[in-house]
Amino acid sequence: MSKEILKQNKVSWDIVAPHFNGVDALPNYGPFAQTEEELQLFEDIQGKKVLEIGYGSGHSLRYMDSKGASELWGVDLSNTQQEAATQLLQGLKPHLFCGAMETDVGLPREYFDYVYSVYAIGWTTDLQATFDLIYSYLKKGGTFIFSWDHPLYAHVTSEDGTLRLKGSYQEEGAKVMKNFKGEEVDMMIHKRKISTYMNQLIHSGFRIEEVIESEPGQSYDGIEAEVSDRYYSLYKARKFPATMIIKAGKR
Ligand SMILES: C[S@@+](CC[C@H](N)C(=O)[O-])C[C@H]1O[C@@H](n2cnc3c(N)ncnc32)[C@H](O)[C@@H]1O
Repeated sequence: MSKEILKQNKVSWDIVAPHFNGVDALPNYGPFAQTEEELQLFEDIQGKKVLEIGYGSGHSLRYMDSKGASELWGVDLSNTQQEAATQLLQGLKPHLFCGAMETDVGLPREYFDYVYSVYAIGWTTDLQATFDLIYSYLKKGGTFIFSWDHPLYAHVTSEDGTLRLKGSYQEEGAKVMKNFKGEEVDMMIHKRKISTYMNQLIHSGFRIEEVIESEPGQSYDGIEAEVSDRYYSLYKARKFPATMIIKAGKR
C-alpha cells in the first residue's frame, strides 16, 4: 500500500464526508438493495462486540446500539467523519479510531463477534491486508459482513433504457477520481472483480457463508420503474444488482 495514496485519499474524504451523512448506513446495505431487516444477516446483535470498517457518519453504529450491541468500535480514514460520528454517538461510549483499514491502527485481536462495513471496503488500497486484519480482529466463530458496489454495476449503462456493457470488467487496478459528489478531489479507487473479493476472503482464512446480489427491497414493491439512464435507478436495479453483500465466518 502507498502512504502517499492514503494521505491523498484522506484529504479528499475530509472534503466529501458531509455528502455521506447517514446515506449508506444500516439497516440499508446500499442503493436499491434489500435492508438488514429483510435479509437478517446478523443473527443476534444483543450483547455482541461490533467493529465497523469505514464508520462514516456513525449511523450504522447507532443502529447496532439500538439492537443491543455491548461495545461499539470503528475505524475510518477521515477526521471529518470521526467528528461527525463522535457527535452522533454522544453518550454511547464508542471507540472511534481515525486511520486506514489496511493498516494496524491498534484494534484488539480475537475480540469481536461481528466486523461489518457498508460501502467502504472497496476504498482500501490493499484488499488482502484489509481482510487479513479483519480476520485477526474477529473471535473464532465471529462473522464479517460487508456491502459494496456490485463490481459489474459500473460497467452496465442504460441508454434510452437499453442496458449496454461499458469498458472492460476484466481489467482490474487503480483509477483516479478528480470529481466526486460535485467536489474537486484527487482520490484513488481500485477496480476489482467479484472473484477477487471472494478469493482474497478465502486466502485470509474466511469461509464464505452467503453472497447476495441485491434486488430492490420491499419498500419498492408495487412501484413502477420508469425508464431511466441514471447511474442508480430503480429501472436499472430491477434488471441488474447494484450492490453485492458478502457474509463470511471465522471458523
Ligand atoms: C461511502 S462512505 C461509507 C458510509 C458509511 N457506511 C456511513 O454510514 O456513513 C466510505 C467511508 O470509508 C472511509 N474510508 C475511505 N477509505 C478508507 C480507508 N482506507 N480506511 C478506512 N476508511 C476509509 C471514508 O472516510 C468514508 O467514511
